Amino acid sequence: MILADERHFGDLCQLIFKQVGLDCKQYKVNYLKRRLAVRMRATKKGTYQEYEELLKDKPEEFKWLLDRLTINVSNFYRDPMVYEQMEKLLLPGWRKQRKLRIWSAGCANGEEPYSVAMMLQKGLATLCDWEILATDIDPAVLESARLGKYDKESLKTLPAELKDRYFKFCDERWAIKNELKKRIDFQIQDLTGPLPNGAFDLIICRNVLIYFIPELQERLFRDFYQRLRPDGYLVLGKTETLLGEVRKLYHMLDVRERIYKKKAADSDAGSLSI
Ligand SMILES: C[S@@+](CC[C@H](N)C(=O)[O-])C[C@H]1O[C@@H](n2cnc3c(N)ncnc32)[C@H](O)[C@@H]1O
Repeated sequence: MILADERHFGDLCQLIFKQVGLDCKQYKVNYLKRRLAVRMRATKKGTYQEYEELLKDKPEEFKWLLDRLTINVSNFYRDPMVYEQMEKLLLPGWRKQRKLRIWSAGCANGEEPYSVAMMLQKGLATLCDWEILATDIDPAVLESARLGKYDKESLKTLPAELKDRYFKFCDERWAIKNELKKRIDFQIQDLTGPLPNGAFDLIICRNVLIYFIPELQERLFRDFYQRLRPDGYLVLGKTETLLGEVRKLYHMLDVRERIYKKKAADSDAGSLSI
């Protein structure tokens, strides 16, 4: 019985990959099963086989499933200390640079790249130009990110001065101003597939990698390293950490806030074949 259900779990994963391109093999199995269970309960399906049949009968169910499989929870200045520390550790060196390139990977509804944009606009003013690439696998969240309208809950940890400066309140929602919107390029991108070309001064990838199997996490840490400029920074979520050998590629700048700096190739990072 268990074996049959496991087989149907495998079939279901294949169907999901074929229809929406989400490579289930790259996600932790327990995570996938927990998220599938949420949608199976909502549709009153007791087995993977029954749920697979529903997906085949009603293809529109894939949209709801993708919504459940990709947790999109985020907010502005999520973990405010990480932004305080980035201001302190990263901005001083950047004031002398000509142009910065930042990548927010797994950007959800845009709260993270917009928060970085506010930090840069406030901290750098006209001292240095910058652009942000913000990517996610889920087309629905990218649409909402481009729209840039938020409920008050999303702004709960945003400093009041930034809220006053970069939002206007209209139709019961908080709309981000165009001066920030036009600086961010929102693009669909799957972190289990080919990555955008570098070179970035900062890759911020928070609360995404925890869902991936360790092998993919490690591969991404190597790929991020290659896509960072010399002296580039990597920022992870509070519960994420560098795994295994790839720790050699980065200096740890802030252990609590998970801020790392790329090591030079002629340091011990060079001993790692990447
Ligand atoms: C919990 S949100 C994190 C949002 C933001 N980085 C933060 O920390 O607040 C996770 C995001 O990762 C995205 N995601 C999940 N799997 C992905 C993949 N394979 N490639 C790119 N993005 C993915 C989800 O769609 C979701 O928007």
